[in-house]
Amino acid sequence: MNIKDKNLYYIGGVVRDEILGKPSFDTDLTYRGNAIDFAKTIPDIEILQINEPFGTVRIKSGGKEFDIASTRTETYPRKGHLPEVDKIGCSLKEDVMRRDFTINALAKSTLTGEIIDYTNGLEDIKNKTLRILYDTSFIDDPTRIVRRLKFAVRFGFDSDEHTRKLQNDYLDNINYDMSYKRLKKELVETFNLNKREAFEKFIKQRIYKLVAPVDFTLPEYDFENLIKMNLSNISQSNIWIIYVGLLPDISNLPLTKAENKIIEEFKKLKSTIFNNDFEICKAFNAAPIESVIMYSTVNHKTAEKYLTKLKNIKLTLNGKDLQNLGIAPNAKYRECFDYILKTKIPNPQMTKADELKLAKEFFNLS
Ligand code: CTP
Repeated sequence: MNIKDKNLYYIGGVVRDEILGKPSFDTDLTYRGNAIDFAKTIPDIEILQINEPFGTVRIKSGGKEFDIASTRTETYPRKGHLPEVDKIGCSLKEDVMRRDFTINALAKSTLTGEIIDYTNGLEDIKNKTLRILYDTSFIDDPTRIVRRLKFAVRFGFDSDEHTRKLQNDYLDNINYDMSYKRLKKELVETFNLNKREAFEKFIKQRIYKLVAPVDFTLPEYDFENLIKMNLSNISQSNIWIIYVGLLPDISNLPLTKAENKIIEEFKKLKSTIFNNDFEICKAFNAAPIESVIMYSTVNHKTAEKYLTKLKNIKLTLNGKDLQNLGIAPNAKYRECFDYILKTKIPNPQMTKADELKLAKEFFNLS
């Protein structure tokens, strides 16, 4: 980014990540004053979007997009929901103090490269500590409890005692009137990391209670590796639901159609008794792979057997081959395929010619 100004600072994650030597997902900037007015004075940039109430502006410069926020103070008239802007153009210190953790409260001057550290964030990075900035932070924004978990797992950091106490206090007294859209966003980012450690902390520290006031114990089976082994068939953005979807009630979370289907199919598998490999194959072939991995917490041997062996047993014969035998498409096709699959499961080396023979046998053709 080549825009430099004495009032323009890199802020939040980008500064933290640079110090940690990690790649950053986005580049946040804050302007001490009004960012929208400032953006209008920058030559050779394109203004893409202005959000007047929040004092933010999205610009394109040198082919890249950046968000510039005005320094602002905020209040939370409705706890657990989006804050309201109190004052735009406040001091940098005031802007920093409304944020979540000291490690996310560092600013870096675009002009001099100086790091401005009002909250001892640098020391906390060195000591791998997540420290909340003010005592009512989790009450204002409980999604920060999940953010804490996300950063703990991502960076291997731990919380200071006071932050942990504030988290426990909040979890003893959760206000369920919160923005579940925001909570979901943080859950997605945390669990898409695919770390058993995150799930263990989520359960052991009772963070899952934010989703619903239910009881839940950590499933014994660790499916982190099962996910890794099947990554080519799982959408990266669906990993989170394999974990969080195991909770007995996630109806507060706004789910997509695909996420709902994963949960429904898992429940179906869970309530089915399988008598043989053919039944497993039929049921699991019809379910999303994410549901199958969830099922590993019910019976990991069955899930593993399916994923490593049964899933790969596929018929080479198709409808066209049956038509070539002179059989017009009809409901019997499915029965025929099942008949062949039943034979092929214990004999996976079967060739297409073997399958064709079985099809002829099924339709009584010589
Ligand atoms: N922030 C906050 N409270 C939240 C979300 C964000 O105080 N609930 C502040 C933090 O200072 C954070 C910044 O806004 O650094 C930007 O938020 P976001 O982009 O979500 O997080 P990053 O810290 O950039 O982390 P990531 O690398 O996960 O994007």
